[in-house]
This record gives sequence, structure tokens and C-alpha cells, in this order.
Amino acid sequence: MSKKVLLSGVKPTGAPHIGNYFGAMKQFVELQNDYDGYVFIADYHALNFIQNKEEMHKNIINILLDYLAIGLDPKKITIFKQSDILEHTELAWIFDTFTTMPYLMRAHAYKDALGKNKEISVGTFNYPMLMAADILLYDVDVVPVGQDQKQHVEYARDTAEKFNYIFGETFKLPEPMIMKDVAVVPGIDGRKMSKSYNNHIPLFASHEEVKKCVMGIVTDSSGGIPKNVFAIHSLLRPEKELLPIYESKAGKYKELKELLIEDLEKFIAPLRERRKEFEKDIPKALKILEEGSKKAKIVASKKMQEVKEKIGVNIYEK
Ligand code: TYM
Repeated sequence: MSKKVLLSGVKPTGAPHIGNYFGAMKQFVELQNDYDGYVFIADYHALNFIQNKEEMHKNIINILLDYLAIGLDPKKITIFKQSDILEHTELAWIFDTFTTMPYLMRAHAYKDALGKNKEISVGTFNYPMLMAADILLYDVDVVPVGQDQKQHVEYARDTAEKFNYIFGETFKLPEPMIMKDVAVVPGIDGRKMSKSYNNHIPLFASHEEVKKCVMGIVTDSSGGIPKNVFAIHSLLRPEKELLPIYESKAGKYKELKELLIEDLEKFIAPLRERRKEFEKDIPKALKILEEGSKKAKIVASKKMQEVKEKIGVNIYEK
């Protein structure tokens, strides 16, 4: 029996944090044996946020090294870069032609941007269509993501259904895969961990950074269990094991934070070491990415041929 297909991606907008890892990236690694997997660098999505050549370049290489350091194995999973595969933007355009503006106006990301009175780029507005194309080109079964991407996967499903209805059965309907306990990893202030809130703990943080982040975790003065410290700690140890420790040290915020620093360091140190190894040979990492993009391109262009056939633009005799 052929394996089910998994696909997901991360925007290269800066160093990933432990929310990205526990919410999504960890699943990529854990599932790479059981699925035909694609994990990609969503650089054209990142272009909505990063419009600086050097920064983009650096971020792409960094996320590639991060992927390898967390244990993605190119023999098991295809790692590729979105901008290497023109079919993503090509298919997004086709989706744009039958997608209505009011439908896209319901997107959370768009509404958030509107709420902040930001000038919204067309790229931000159309973001769900590019994401639908990312997913639908590969006949994907599951998309492991955090809760904040659920609506985007629903957009991909709706778009597949709409295309299938208009042009005939073409796309598989993908399912989001969201891990309940880590669907929304909280940051050091208790809100969702996010680079844009500056409340994050970098996945490859140095010991000093870990200390600084943990000491900055917001606590109240109730003298009980520090909720935000506990929430982050429970990513690393089962709650059953943590609760008695937190109960016996209720109110001792400094001690509990020191324990969290110790546990975070145990978790991050081996990742940092692995990353250093990959940093030594960037050309080798780039080769992996290039090869991955070649593999993904074959799948994407086959699907795109089918799409072009269905919409009626393939007119030449073969
Ligand atoms: P991005 O780069 O913002 O985030 C990468 C992944 O991390 C998850 N995540 C979280 N999970 C739990 N708690 C948090 N605090 C947290 N913060 C981030 C995100 O849900 C995501 O899974 N649009 C996507 C990238 C993308 C994509 C795709 C993903 C583009 N095309 C196709 C899947 C399939 C994004 O911006 O993720």
C-alpha cells in the first residue's frame, strides 16, 4: 500500500522558536518514516514580510540548517524551496481567478492586519491562495500545523472543492493535523508565542538567551503556581511529573524558573550542537535543497499539466 502524503512549510522570517517546533516542526520529524513527506521553505510567503535581499538570503539558509538540525532526513522526506517551483505561483493565479474578494476578506490574517490599520499588500490578501497551491499540487493527505494555520488549510480544502466542481475531479482534499496539547504554544507573556509579539524562545537559543527569556516570563504575585512558567515547562515534561514539583515549590518563582532553564538547556543543547555540524558544510546543505526541489518539481509539474488540461489552455498536439 502506498504511503499517505504529508506536506508543511515554515516561512523564513527569522529564527524559528519553540512554538514553531512543538506546534509543527517536531511532527515533521516524527512522521517522516510513515509518510511520503514534503517540507518546504515558504520564501514567497516570507516576501510579504522580508523585503531585503541579504536578510532573505540568510533566512533561507538558516531555516534549511534548522530543518536538518532537528532531524529531517533528506532520504526520507523531500526538503524544497517554494520559489524553485514556479507551479506554486502559477496555480495560485488560477485559484485567484475563481476566488471572490469577500471570501478572502474572511481570513483571520487579513482581518488582523486590517485591525492594526496596516496597509495590506495584495500578496498578504492572496496569501491563502498561494498556500492552497502549495498544498494541492502534491495530492496531500495531511498538513501538520499549529492552530493558527487551521483556517488556511480549510481555504485549501474549499478551493480544491471549488476547482473540482467547476473543472472536474482534480485535487485531493487535505486535512489539517493539529496536536491538541501544542496547538497554541504560549509565549513568555502568556499570549501565543510569536516573533511578532517578541515573546518567543528561539529554538536554537544560546544558554544566555534561554536564561534571559525564562527570567522574562511574566508571573503574577499570587504566590501560587506560575501559570506561564508551567505552560512552557509542560512542553518538556509530562504535567503529571511537573505538577507535584510546582506544588511543592509554589511561590518560589526563581527556583522554578531555574529548573525550566535547566530543562530547556537539556533540550536545546543537542540541537545547537547538531546545527553547528551542518553549518560547517553549507554547500552540502544547499545541494540537499536543490535535489529536493528537483524531486518536488516533477510532482508539481505533472499536476500542473493536469490542471492546464482541465482549464482548457493546453491546445498543442502532443
Ligand atoms: P509559520 O512560518 O508562521 O509557522 C510555522 C509553523 O509553526 C506553527 N506555529 C505554532 N504552533 C503552535 N504554537 C505557536 N505559538 C505557533 N507559532 C507558529 C504554525 O502554525 C506553522 O505550522 N503559512 C505558514 C507557512 C506555510 C504553510 C504552507 C504551512 C506556507 N504554505 C503550506 C503548511 C502548508 C506559516 O506562516 O507558518
